[in-house]
Amino acid sequence: MKLLVINGPNLNMLGIREPDIYGKQDFASLEAYIRSSAEELGHAVTLFQSNHEGEIVDIIQSAYGVFDGIVINPAAYTHTSVAILDALKAVGIPTVEVHLSDINEREEFRKFSYVSMVAKKTICGLGFEGYRKALEYFA
Ligand code: DQA
Repeated sequence: MKLLVINGPNLNMLGIREPDIYGKQDFASLEAYIRSSAEELGHAVTLFQSNHEGEIVDIIQSAYGVFDGIVINPAAYTHTSVAILDALKAVGIPTVEVHLSDINEREEFRKFSYVSMVAKKTICGLGFEGYRKALEYFA
């Protein structure tokens, strides 16, 4: 399948950012892991990362008619962005939500996810492996 993998704000800081929560591996390692997992599962994958909500809305809109599925870690926008939720609803592309950490076991404000309202599945707390599980969902 043709899949778009979207990573939201501050995920480009992996390795530096709160390693006790997000791990010591950097963002380039995550991208390499996603690419090799996708290849093994026979998916064609396009990777996108942005720190900007509007850019994430734009890439979701541009996925319409192009991609069969979306894997998204909206990062902090998970908990705030009606715009990303609306964009996912607008394009109607099957979406799986991923979080490296277990958002249900952290601060109260992380327990609510707008994207969960549209996601077919939410995978959290599995680190990098969560992305592989999301790709497996589409396999
Ligand atoms: C995150 C969890 C979010 O609450 C946080 O804002 C992130 C990363 C995760 O992958 O665990 O930036 O989405």
